[in-house]
Formats: sequence, C-alpha cells, structure tokens
Amino acid sequence: MGIFTMLSTTLCLPFFFLCLKTAFSSSLHFCSHEEAAALLQFKTSFPINYTVCYSKTESWKEGIDCCSWDGVSCDNVTGHVIALDLSSDCLSRTFPSNSTLFLLKNLKSLNLSFNDFRLSKIPPEISQFTRLKHLDISYSEFSGQVPAKIAHLSKLVSLNLSNFFSFESDTMVFSSPRNLILETTTLRNLVQNLSEVRELVLSGVDMTSVNPRFFMNLSFSLTTLNLRDCQLRGNFPNSIFRFPNLKNFYLSGSFGKGNLTIDLPSSNWSSPLQQLDLSDMDCGRRLPESIGDLKSLQSLCLSHCNLEGSIPTSIGNLSELTSLELSSNQFSGPILASIGNLRQLTSLYLSGNQFSGPIPASIASIGNLRQLTSLYLFDSQFSGPIPASIGNLSQLIDLSLSSNNFNGQIPSSLANLTQLTFLGLSNNQFSGPIPFHASRFSKLSILDLSYNLLNGTLPPWIFTLPLLEYLYLNHNQFQGQIIQFQQNSLTLLDLSNNKLQGSIPNSIANLVNLNYLGLSSNLFTGLVELDMFSVLQNLETIFLSDINLSLRMNVNANFTLPKLTDVSFSSCNLSEFPNFIRHSNGLQSLVLSKNSIHGNIPEWICEKDDIQVLDLSHNNLIGKIPNCLLKFLLVLNLQANYFDGNIPFGFPEGCELRNLNLHGNQMDGLLPRSLVNCSMLEVLDVGNNSIEDTFPHWLESLPELQVLVLRSNKFHGFVQSTKESPSFPKLRVLDLSSNDFLGPLPLRYMENFKAMMEPHGEDGSPEYMKAPTNSYQYSLVVTWKGFEYELQGILTVFSSIHLSNNMFEGEIPDVIGKLSSLKGLNLSHNNLTVAYLHG
Ligand SMILES: *[C@@H]1O[C@H](CO)[C@@H](O)[C@H](O)[C@H]1NC(C)=O
Ligand SMILES: *[C@@H]1O[C@H](CO)[C@@H](O)[C@H](O)[C@H]1NC(C)=O
Ligand SMILES: *[C@@H]1O[C@H](CO)[C@@H](O)[C@H](O)[C@H]1NC(C)=O
Ligand SMILES: *[C@@H]1O[C@H](CO)[C@@H](O)[C@H](O)[C@H]1NC(C)=O
Ligand SMILES: *[C@@H]1O[C@H](CO)[C@@H](O)[C@H](O)[C@H]1NC(C)=O
Ligand SMILES: *[C@@H]1O[C@H](CO)[C@@H](O)[C@H](O)[C@H]1NC(C)=O
Ligand SMILES: *[C@@H]1O[C@H](CO)[C@@H](O)[C@H](O)[C@H]1NC(C)=O
Ligand SMILES: *[C@@H]1O[C@H](CO)[C@@H](O)[C@H](O)[C@H]1NC(C)=O
Ligand SMILES: *[C@@H]1O[C@H](CO)[C@@H](O)[C@H](O)[C@H]1NC(C)=O
Ligand SMILES: *[C@@H]1O[C@H](CO)[C@@H](O)[C@H](O)[C@H]1NC(C)=O
Ligand SMILES: *[C@@H]1O[C@H](CO)[C@@H](O)[C@H](O)[C@H]1NC(C)=O
Ligand SMILES: *[C@@H]1O[C@H](CO)[C@@H](O)[C@H](O)[C@H]1NC(C)=O
Repeated sequence: MGIFTMLSTTLCLPFFFLCLKTAFSSSLHFCSHEEAAALLQFKTSFPINYTVCYSKTESWKEGIDCCSWDGVSCDNVTGHVIALDLSSDCLSRTFPSNSTLFLLKNLKSLNLSFNDFRLSKIPPEISQFTRLKHLDISYSEFSGQVPAKIAHLSKLVSLNLSNFFSFESDTMVFSSPRNLILETTTLRNLVQNLSEVRELVLSGVDMTSVNPRFFMNLSFSLTTLNLRDCQLRGNFPNSIFRFPNLKNFYLSGSFGKGNLTIDLPSSNWSSPLQQLDLSDMDCGRRLPESIGDLKSLQSLCLSHCNLEGSIPTSIGNLSELTSLELSSNQFSGPILASIGNLRQLTSLYLSGNQFSGPIPASIASIGNLRQLTSLYLFDSQFSGPIPASIGNLSQLIDLSLSSNNFNGQIPSSLANLTQLTFLGLSNNQFSGPIPFHASRFSKLSILDLSYNLLNGTLPPWIFTLPLLEYLYLNHNQFQGQIIQFQQNSLTLLDLSNNKLQGSIPNSIANLVNLNYLGLSSNLFTGLVELDMFSVLQNLETIFLSDINLSLRMNVNANFTLPKLTDVSFSSCNLSEFPNFIRHSNGLQSLVLSKNSIHGNIPEWICEKDDIQVLDLSHNNLIGKIPNCLLKFLLVLNLQANYFDGNIPFGFPEGCELRNLNLHGNQMDGLLPRSLVNCSMLEVLDVGNNSIEDTFPHWLESLPELQVLVLRSNKFHGFVQSTKESPSFPKLRVLDLSSNDFLGPLPLRYMENFKAMMEPHGEDGSPEYMKAPTNSYQYSLVVTWKGFEYELQGILTVFSSIHLSNNMFEGEIPDVIGKLSSLKGLNLSHNNLTVAYLHG
C-alpha cells in the first residue's frame, strides 16, 4: 500500500498526464491469468455487435491487464477482480449456468442490471460468490424462482432483484410482467442469513405466497426496503417503522384495490424515514397526527391508500418535504393552511379527493411554496375563485385545477407563470374572458380551458405559442371571429361547442402538424372548400358538425389524408360522399348524418376494413344495404333514408355489432336470424319499415340488448317467451307499437325485465350509453304524446314499454307495478280490460 501511495502521489504531479496514475496502479498488480481468461471466456459467451451496441466488454482484450478493462475493478493489493459492472452492456443471451464468471471467487460487487438474459433462471451458482457485498441484477430479464441458494450470500449489504417497471397515465396503465418469483422459504432464509443487509430492493418480484411478517426478521442495519408491486397480501406489520436505520421504505399494492394493508402507527415512528411510499394499498382510513414526527421526511406518497378525513395539521411540521402525494383518497374538508409551511416542496399532488371550499386566502401561504414545480388539485370539490397569489409560484411547470367547482375569472396573475408547460383549468365554472393580453407562456405545451363558461373573443396570441401542442378551448362560450391561425406546433385543436362566428379562415392550412381538429357546434357560416384541408397530412380526426355552414367540394378535389381515422361532417349540407374519404384507408369512424347525400352507398365503403362506426342517417340514400357492412361494424346507423329490400342476412359468427339502427326506411322481408351472432348487440331499432315477421323471441338470449324497437312494421302473432331462463336481461326500452301482435300481453318477459325493476342507483349526473368510440353518441327516436323525438344520447336510466296499437287482449297484469324505473308506458289501442294507462 505504501509503495503504491508513494508512487501515485509522487508521479502523478500536475505536469504528468492524469492517466499515468491508472497505468501505474494497474501495472503494479496485473490481474491473474486465470481471472483474465475467465472474463474473456465470459465475453465470448455473449456475442455482441459492437457497431450497433455499446458494451464495456469491447475493451476486454488479451494482453492488456484486465484490471484496466472497462467495468472491471481489482483489489489494489492482491490484484484480484473484486468488482464487475456490466450494467447496460448489451448482454443478450440466456445466462449460462456453467459461466466462467463464477470462477471470480473474490467478487465483492456484481452489477448485471439492464441486460437481456432472455428470461433465463438466476443460476444457483451465484451462491459461489461468498464474498459478495453488492448484487444488482435488476431489469435484466431473469425469470422463474429465485434460487434458494441466494441465501448463502450472507455478506450482502445490498441486493437488487427489481424487475418491474410500471407507469400509469390518464389513458393507460403500463406494466411489465412479473417474471421473478420469490418463495416463502427462500425469503425466510434470505432475511435471516443476510445479517448485514442495508438495502433490499425486490420491487416487482412476485411474492404472492410470502407472509409479510417475515420481513420483521431483517437486520436492524436496514436502510432501504423496496417492496413495490410484489403481490404481497395480508397485513404488513407496522413495527417496520421501528427499524432504527430505515430511511427509504416503499411498499405498494397493485393498481386498484389490492389485498395488502398496513396500519399507520399512532406513535413511536422511530425510524429516520426520508422516503415513504405506501401507494395503492389500504392504509387504514386515517392518516395519524403522528405523521408529523417524521422530521426527516423528504418524500411522502400515500396515493390511492383508502385514507379519509382531514389531513392532520402536523403535516406542516415536515419541513424537509419536497414531494407530497395524497392523490386518489377520500380526504375531505378544506385544504390546510399549514401546507404553506412546507417551503421545500416541489411537488404537491392532492387530486382525486373530496377537498372542498376555496383555496384559502391564507394560501397566500401556498404562495410561499416558491420551489413548487407541480401542483395537482384536479378532480376534487374545491370552489370559489383562484387566489391571485397563485401567480407567485413562479417555478410552476405543471398546474392542474381541472374538474372542481372553481368560479370567477381566471386570475391574470397566472400570466406570471412563465415556466408552465401544462395548464389545466377544465371542467370548472370559470367565466369572463381569457385575461391575458399577450402571451408569456413561451414553454406551454398543453393548455386546457375546456368545459367552462369563458367568453369573449379568442386572443390572437393563443395561436402563436411556440411550443403549444394541445389546445382545448371546447365547451365554452367564446365568440367572435378567428382572425388567423399561425403555423405552430399544434397537434390538437378543439374549439367545438362555442359560439364562434364568421368563416373558418383558410389559414387553418398553416397548422400542418394537426392531427385532431374539432370545430363542431359553433356558429360558423359561409362555405368551406374541403380542399383547404388537403395540406393537413397528419390529420387523424376531423369534426365539423353542426356549424351552419356548407361544405363544398371541388369535384376535382382528389387529395389524400393518409392518417385519417375519424370524420364527422354532420349537418354540413353535403350532397355527396367527399372524395378524399375514399382514399383514407385507416378510417374507423365516418359520420355524415343530416346532409342531403343521395344515391347508393358507394362500393368503396366495403374496402374500409377498419371502419367501426358508420352513421349515414338522415340523408337521401337509396338502394340496398350492402352485405359487406355486416362484417366489421360496431355501429351502423342508416336511419331516415330510403333504403329498401331485405336487411342483409348473414351476420357472421363473432359479429361485434353493438348498435343497428335502420329506423325509417323502406325495408321489408324478415329480421335476419343471424343477428343472434351479434352477442354484444345493445340497440336494435328497425322501427318504421315494412318488416313482416313474428316476434323475434330468438333475440332474448342476447345478454347486452337494452333497446328493442320494432314499432310501425308488420310484425304479427303472439309475443311469448320460449324459455324459462331469464330473457332480455338488460332490456330497458321495448317498443312494439303499431304492429299486428295479438294474444295476451307478454307477461313472462315483463316479469323478467330486471333492468326496469332495479331502482337506479346513485344520484350523480345521468349517464349515457357509451358508444364504442369516444366521439360518437347514440341516438334514439322516442314517441311522446303522439310525437316522435330523436334523443341525442340514450340515458342509461331511460326506460319505457310501448305496446299500443296492437291487438293484445286480456287483463293488465300486476307485474307492471314492479317495473319501478319505467319512464313511459303505453298500452293504448289494444283489447285490454283496463284499457288505458299512460306513464
Ligand atoms: C485501494 O484504493 C482505494 C481507492 O481506490 C482506497 O480507498 C483503498 O484504501 C486502497 N486500498 C489499499 C489496500 O491500498
Ligand atoms: C453489425 O450490425 C451492422 C448494422 O446492423 C451490420 O451491418 C453488420 O453486418 C453487423 N455485424 C455482424 C458481425 O453481424
Ligand atoms: C448498477 O448499474 C446501474 C446502471 O449504471 C446503476 O444505476 C446502479 O446504481 C448500479 N448498481 C449498484 C448497486 O451500484
Ligand atoms: C457450458 O455448457 C455448454 C453446453 O451446455 C457448452 O457448450 C459450453 O462449452 C460450456 N461452457 C463452458 C465454459 O464450460
Ligand atoms: C446462511 O449462510 C451460510 C454461509 O453462507 C450458509 O452456509 C448457510 O447454508 C445459509 N443458510 C441458509 C438457510 O441458506
Ligand atoms: C438497485 O438497488 C441498489 C440498492 O438500493 C441501488 O444502489 C441500485 O442503484 C439499484 N439499481 C438500479 C438499476 O436502480
Ligand atoms: C424470526 O427469527 C426467529 C429466530 O431468529 C425465529 O424464531 C422466528 O420464527 C422468525 N420469524 C419469522 C416470521 O420468520
Ligand atoms: C384479493 O384476494 C382475493 C382472494 O385471495 C383474490 O380473489 C383477489 O383477486 C385479490 N385481489 C387483488 C386485487 O389482488
Ligand atoms: C405578476 O405580474 C403582474 C403583472 O401582470 C405584476 O404586476 C406582478 O408584480 C407580478 N408578480 C410577480 C410575483 O412577479
Ligand atoms: C361574459 O360573461 C360575463 C359573466 O359571465 C358577462 O358579464 C359578460 O357580459 C359576458 N361577455 C360577453 C361579451 O358576453
Ligand atoms: C384520385 O387519386 C387517386 C390516388 O390518390 C388515384 O388513384 C385516382 O385515379 C384519382 N382519381 C381522379 C379522378 O383523379
Ligand atoms: C277483444 O277480446 C274479447 C275477449 O277478451 C273478444 O271477445 C273480442 O272479440 C276481442 N275484440 C277484438 C276486436 O279482437
């Protein structure tokens, strides 16, 4: 040691190159021939194409001291290889159990993380590294049972077997599969034998069979315990919080309600915790006041933890906190002023609770949180205006206050938040104009002001923000004309459901990155030449419905929008099918309702294999319905046209149709029996045609059918159930009126209308039946006091039975009293003994 120190200090003087030090240190102790050979052999067992992949093993060459190879460290006295870092090293092969790596008996540290061992087993031979202190084989695609012999590594100070990666966003939950399994006896031995372990990281290892009590036998040296997503069950003992050195503790259930619980202690948290994550499990309802004792806490995550009540005031004592996440619980009451004490806070996530009341004036104290970069208060019950002091949080990058009851004007002080990339204020009751005159949001990428009561004209700067990608201004009361769209980075523009006037400026062609364009339901006027959209080559979705204007097509317009999937041109005075749609091969939803398109359904529709929603209702279409439509659609709405002939037969097996609406055409013939193949069918409306058939009792086994309308046809005969078993289990709307049905009322069916007997649950706002694509809304023609109405959206609470104008006879049965959620009942014009009832 002395010689080495002397040499290195005397020789590595400033006028020598620094690398001399390395050269000398390695030249002092060449690694042994055996160890070098073992490493080279290991290298050859993992062939790597170095031109496409960076790997430290590239520097491993015969004739060079192995102690100077990348990723290899030697003991500076004995020359033995003691540490090997092969993390992210392009090793992509099954790990050989006879690997020469196991010859390196002196290894103290081995890092194989971020490789791809192709789901091979962790070789039990790993237990031969008896001196190992650090083992990291995380994220390297090992699978199967962790070998029992791993418990022989009794000198381990840190062990990382983590193999799970997951994230959750608004639209998706991504998680890699759990491939490693740790059995209960292996864990028990591991826990008992690893007497020096400080860091144990087992996230994502499947421990379904492990009793969480075993962890209490871990060494008191423990500083880090990571058990995220381990499928643990039962109650995790809260004595873990008495481990004297525990600084980082991560325990979480699976997304959603898991089976893991922990009772937060009401006193005696003795560990010096800095990071605590107990998300996605059951934390025993209350967050105890004693949480304020954890004075060293820097990060506290108790999201989705089933907690309720108010946040204890003591939380204001956690002066080191930088991140506080309490989202998705049932916390209630006003937000605490004491949060304003947490001056180190950079992230505050309180979304998805039942907090109420205003952000208090004292939240000038929130204005204290000068370090704050993320503030999420969405989806709660906050109300009142936003305090202007929020403009003091000048470091904010993400701010979401969406889905609350905030009202008043948007404070102009928000314009001070020049670092913002995400500003979400949607779904509140903000009113008045957008208060900023000029834009200072040079970094803004998402601006969501949708679903408010905002009015005034759209400030021109809103279309000039250099980094803006998503602009949601829909469902407000904006008015006036749009002056100009400038070229920018917008990919989504939603202005629908406002009161915008004038024409749609041609400058829309500047938005070349656009893939979503929503302009529906405004007061636009004038003519739109469809050619205008021809440059928007990234367009996937275009909604231009209900805007009082006329879409005009240059007959020669023959452009292609190759990425188009959703088109809605409803009420646009179209008289033919727009040409460009024909060239869009990925079309999924086509809504051209309420135009005056005439002629036959064009044959090219049959080539659109991805189409799921086709709504051509309220046009002047004629001819037969092409057979090809049966094979792929989820929604087919051809209501109010002049189609004739049979409903095509041959709905294929596995048919996925949910909604078939042929109301108001001139169809005749039979109802195709093959409809029974469409087991997802929710709505069948063939009213106002000339179909001549008996009652389709063969539909009674369809489990999802909610709406069946056969009115005004030539159906005849008895309406009787053929089955004992529940028939039409979900039916809510049955309209058989104006046919030639006879015989007794369909008693057995009525007795089985479970969906009509169930009281309709929670008061909340009424729900509509969900169409298979988000943008599409079902509609239903109903008769009310002799008139027909078309309802946009079918309420899931709407139910009615119409049997009038038939020849039913006999008595009105008692069972009708049980159909408690019925909104409409019409039995008139039959031959019934209590002749008239109207609900
Ligand atoms: C070996 O080098 C490390 C630093 O690289 C040093 O901390 C340690 O004291 C050295 N050991 C010996 C035995 O010289
Ligand atoms: C390595 O990858 C490059 C680029 O894909 C390829 O051209 C080359 O043939 C590969 N070399 C070997 C030895 O496979
Ligand atoms: C192993 O390597 C990875 C990637 O470089 C690193 O993040 C990790 O901290 C290392 N593990 C240990 C125990 O040092
Ligand atoms: C390991 O075993 C395989 C066969 O299972 C053999 O091909 C290979 O040569 C062996 N490697 C060593 C280093 O013994
Ligand atoms: C504990 O470690 C020692 C030393 O490595 C080993 O001999 C023993 O078998 C281990 N015990 C268990 C239960 O694995
Ligand atoms: C594995 O866990 C150890 C111990 O906590 C840690 O040092 C290391 O960085 C982790 N590895 C990776 C890849 O995160
Ligand atoms: C903890 O270890 C003790 C012996 O050290 C043993 O008696 C006990 O059964 C262990 N507890 C668990 C839960 O494994
Ligand atoms: C909870 O446990 C029950 C019974 O063991 C099981 O059926 C259920 O799937 C578990 N739930 C979760 C979310 O793991
Ligand atoms: C916020 O901006 C307004 C002007 O819009 C200015 O008067 C005020 O001083 C600013 N506040 C801070 C904290 O920068
Ligand atoms: C905008 O809304 C506010 C309040 O909601 C109202 O007082 C004002 O008159 C409206 N302005 C316009 C131009 O409609
Ligand atoms: C329209 O364009 C398509 C290719 O995009 C081409 O196949 C077709 O012939 C063109 N039709 C007319 C009428 O120009
Ligand atoms: C009405 O029903 C009675 C028996 O309930 C029957 O005698 C009568 O002929 C029926 N009237 C018509 C018009 O069908």
